[in-house]
Amino acid sequence: MSAAAEYTVAGRRIAILSGMQERRLTPLDRLLAGANNALRIIGAPAGRSARQNPAGDVPDAELGDPQKRHAAGLMRVNHAGEVAAQGLYQGHAAVARNAEIESQMQRAANEEFDHLAWCEQRLTELGAGPSRLSPFWYAGAFVIGAASGILGDKWSLGFIAETEKQVCAHLDSHLEHLPEDDARSRAIVKRMRDEEEEHGENARNAGAAELPDPVQRLMRLTAKVMTTTAYRL
Ligand SMILES: [Fe+2]
Ligand SMILES: [Fe+2]
Repeated sequence: MSAAAEYTVAGRRIAILSGMQERRLTPLDRLLAGANNALRIIGAPAGRSARQNPAGDVPDAELGDPQKRHAAGLMRVNHAGEVAAQGLYQGHAAVARNAEIESQMQRAANEEFDHLAWCEQRLTELGAGPSRLSPFWYAGAFVIGAASGILGDKWSLGFIAETEKQVCAHLDSHLEHLPEDDARSRAIVKRMRDEEEEHGENARNAGAAELPDPVQRLMRLTAKVMTTTAYRL
């Protein structure tokens, strides 16, 4: 059985076996998997991604210190967003009522884990680290995810569709603001953007409800607080 992802917790390598992901989980499985997932997300380093880093062999540019700091700030924001995405998808999956939707969310969460690992790898290359508030981003997003999931699958799917739409807009703005020469960060952000779009489309196809305007505004405001804070902290 091949490992879908590997990561390190307290110095030990742990592998997630892909064959296990398709099995319907018992409540105890979910609890243990949730605690395990939270530890691996918060306890950076996240470890190896299941898929190859899109920056691959792209040569690293000679960036000046201010450019490097700026790129690191933006990639830290993206990393924090991926930590929140993990919390959100895991929160949704924990209360999903439909097995197919639950497994769709698990698949998306696996791709989000790769995004997280790629952002972390780039941060290391830039001589920086993830947000110190990662536990807070994860816990907050998990609670929001589970709460919207309790309202019903069409609302949690609606929440995902809206989140991914806002994330795409945000990643587009990062592609404008990242240093022109920073091709490695750009390759990662571009791939993430394409996959976030696909996650949103999948959620809409699975029956996402359109969220009311005030909720969409509140989500934009929350995202603003997170992105502004994670750039520095
Ligand atoms: Fe992502
Ligand atoms: Fe996504």
